[in-house]
Amino acid sequence: MYVIHGGNTIEGKVRVQGAKNTVLPILAAALLLSEPVTLKGCPRISDVYTMLALIEQLGGAWSWRGEILTVDGTGIKNWEVDGLLAQECRASILFMGALLGREKKVRIHRPGGCAIGKRPINIHVEGMKQLGAKVREEEDFIHVSGERMQSGTFHMKFPSVGATQNLILSCVKLPGITKLYNGAREPEVVYLCDFLRKCGAKIQGERTDCIVIQGVKRLKGVSYEIPGDRIVGGTYLTMAAASGGSAQIEHVQLWEIESLLFLLERMGCSIYRNQKSVILYRNPKNRLKSVEQLYTQPFPGFPTDMQSQWMVAAAVARGKSKVCEKIFENRFQIVAPLKQMGANIHVEQDTAIIEGVENLSGCEVWGKDLRGACALMVAGAVAKGTTLVHGQKYIDRGHEDIVRDFKLLGVKVQQTK
Ligand code: UD1
Repeated sequence: MYVIHGGNTIEGKVRVQGAKNTVLPILAAALLLSEPVTLKGCPRISDVYTMLALIEQLGGAWSWRGEILTVDGTGIKNWEVDGLLAQECRASILFMGALLGREKKVRIHRPGGCAIGKRPINIHVEGMKQLGAKVREEEDFIHVSGERMQSGTFHMKFPSVGATQNLILSCVKLPGITKLYNGAREPEVVYLCDFLRKCGAKIQGERTDCIVIQGVKRLKGVSYEIPGDRIVGGTYLTMAAASGGSAQIEHVQLWEIESLLFLLERMGCSIYRNQKSVILYRNPKNRLKSVEQLYTQPFPGFPTDMQSQWMVAAAVARGKSKVCEKIFENRFQIVAPLKQMGANIHVEQDTAIIEGVENLSGCEVWGKDLRGACALMVAGAVAKGTTLVHGQKYIDRGHEDIVRDFKLLGVKVQQTK
């Protein structure tokens, strides 16, 4: 449980940790390399440890030396992914593509992760079938045989981030040229392609309509630096916007967070963009302005992973805001706890309508998913009085040390048992 004494303005500077959603596919990609890989700036979060445990269970090895994580997948012989571990982390599904690319077969449990929607994997499976893989789906497990897989073309009916990454992993060593149309353009896809290219892969066209992959026989090990986490950075910027004051957020790439920066500017914040950092300032005497209508969308649209945190800012803005959640069906779980804190929100189907109030007030609340729990931490920092936030196991999935970061930004917070 976290105890937050809120209602103060934000003042401080944070260098954000390495990006969770970038490192997880890169850890899966390590299975495809003929040599170990070293990663700098990998965040020490529970999703990373789950992926490392899965690598170990498959026969690989890993070790940290200071800030450097070495992952060695060269000894892997196993192609059956442990069911219990797979249920701990959504990104475990990426071992499907990686093991297909490596062993030509895989047996894997359906993935777990935060309960923010149905999260099917039909697009992953359709893509693999289209390229000739044989797929047998049981209730919990999926068996895929890639012996007859051939390069080809696949058109994704929705630009799913995970399916795009999984298909890239399964094709990067497949002979011939594979074309993936309508793939996701999220930064986490761009970095996976960048990483694989450094290892020797031939991939072009990420961030366009068509990703073209020419299969290579061998991928070498490299050293790679994990970029800063755009959602962690965005969460802290949103907290500064909602509380007022000033925050300097370092180790973020501007192109990844532009949709958020644009929105916060429209709400009345001053934003100073530097090469790899952002300073946000809002005079605490002037309330934020509301936003008529916001939609969550695939990149470069506004990210669903920022929707809950943004709702806290909208909850204390002057006037009525609306946010329409277009990616996940179950992403308004924080509405109830925010209402407990005094927010005026009601939900109509996929839209939350938020009438801004002057203040939130602290109370005891429960987070039920990673970003929702972080949003409640932000709400605690904004609210008058003391807020108790439960849900550490969710926050640990994506934050190395949220208490350290909040303190650096001037928030009075502590963790208790
Ligand atoms: C990734 C991110 C997650 C982020 C999401 C959207 C990781 C580990 N997680 O999740 O933080 O919120 O992208 O930016 O990187 N869908 C299908 N069929 C499929 C796959 C997806 O219908 O086979 C649907 C999903 O139910 C959802 C939408 O597509 O409604 C987006 O899902 P997807 O882009 O796949 O998200 P994830 O990769 O799971």
